[in-house]
Amino acid sequence: MKVENAIKSRRSIRKFKDKEMSDALINKLIESARLAPSSHNAQPWKFYIVKNKEVKEKLKENNIFRHPFVYKSSCIIVCCADPDLSAKPSDSIFSDQDLAGKAGRDLAFASQNLVLQATELGLGTCYIGMLDRKKIKDILGIPQNYILPFVIIVGYPDEKPSQTPRKKVEDISKEA
Ligand SMILES: Cc1cc2nc3c(=O)[nH]c(=O)nc-3n(C[C@H](O)[C@H](O)[C@H](O)COP(=O)(O)O)c2cc1C
Repeated sequence: MKVENAIKSRRSIRKFKDKEMSDALINKLIESARLAPSSHNAQPWKFYIVKNKEVKEKLKENNIFRHPFVYKSSCIIVCCADPDLSAKPSDSIFSDQDLAGKAGRDLAFASQNLVLQATELGLGTCYIGMLDRKKIKDILGIPQNYILPFVIIVGYPDEKPSQTPRKKVEDISKEA
């Protein structure tokens, strides 16, 4: 699949087939994230993979996600970044908030690589920002200082949503 087709055909998928994903497939997704660019090549991202049914059940019991469809995905990829890895000597003037911003920016690039790779592999994805961050960190043993802007749910799509509206090119760009 051409990158252009992956960009155009990707949709947020919220209905999945009851089918497990192989470790090879999950590794391929993480590999695509691994190759993303990052500031100073800091690579601050950390991905926690939840595919085990008991772990998913534990997240459900603790009401981590508001949407029930999240638990029906084959795999929940908890997308985190370590702001300490984004701190370079020349960045000493940056605040903690700036470092979290840098780490989050790099994580977003890696995550979108992963989403487009999943699209090429015929998998469906959806970013999920609505979650109880403190509780999920406690349950999965994620360090509290990591940023956790979203998770990506992945699985075999069981719906074909139409494209959601987008602004026109002329509305989002202008010659400067
Ligand atoms: C960072 C981020 C967080 C999101 N959080 C949620 C969410 O919590 N629940 C949800 O149903 N969709 C969520 N979405 C999906 C958006 O609603 C979706 O991308 C947008 O409506 C455009 O639709 P499309 O992805 O099908 O093109 C999120 C998307 C992003 C990028």
